[in-house]
Amino acid sequence: MNLIETLEWRYAAKAMNGKTVSEEKINLILEAARLAPTSSGLQPFEILVIKNPAIKAEIRPISWNQSMITDCSHLLVFAAWDTYTEDRINHMFDLTNEVRGFKNEGWENYRQMLLSMYPQRDEETNFNHAAKQAYIAFSAAMFAAAELKVDCTPVEGFDPDKLDEILGLRAKGLRSTVMLPIGYRDSEKDWLVNLTKVRKSMNDLVTVIE
Ligand SMILES: Cc1cc2nc3c(=O)[nH]c(=O)nc-3n(C[C@H](O)[C@H](O)[C@H](O)COP(=O)(O)O)c2cc1C
Repeated sequence: MNLIETLEWRYAAKAMNGKTVSEEKINLILEAARLAPTSSGLQPFEILVIKNPAIKAEIRPISWNQSMITDCSHLLVFAAWDTYTEDRINHMFDLTNEVRGFKNEGWENYRQMLLSMYPQRDEETNFNHAAKQAYIAFSAAMFAAAELKVDCTPVEGFDPDKLDEILGLRAKGLRSTVMLPIGYRDSEKDWLVNLTKVRKSMNDLVTVIE
């Protein structure tokens, strides 16, 4: 399948059949998320991979009782930093220097610029910025799953405060943003599986400025 065929094949599965996705495929999906670009390369989020059926069962009622939460194979939770701190920014800049094996003046000036801006901003602004970065990785994970012929459902339909509580995210300086149940579609039970994909026309979506 080419890229566009793969993207047409992907859909937001409404019912999953409980079959297990191999760890090899899950790792490729996570690697795609890890490789996603983020603003200033800060990767201000973590991904929780929930396999535990009891925890999935606890999450389902606070997620509009959506069946994919318990019938998926792996439930990914994208949790963004609650704010940007000096330590968090320095950690990623130090990591870059360590991996590349040299310090660069331009890069160090850029670090100072971020340090003079981000930690002073209010937490909600910082969290919203971090959450946007988490969504980029989440998108990469969705498309990687499709490439591997694995289904998934983007899920924003949940109570984030309650999810944070179940997973103890606030204590780790994280807040849940979006979930991605990964598994295999249950075509018999899924009302969406055979419906035509609906999208805006190219004209309504795109304006070309010559
Ligand atoms: C960020 C995001 C959150 C979504 N949340 C839910 C959700 O909680 N439950 C659900 O069934 N679908 C959810 N969807 C699926 C969308 O409704 C779906 O992607 C859209 O209608 C397009 O359909 P398609 O993905 O099947 O092509 C979500 C999609 C996105 C991108």
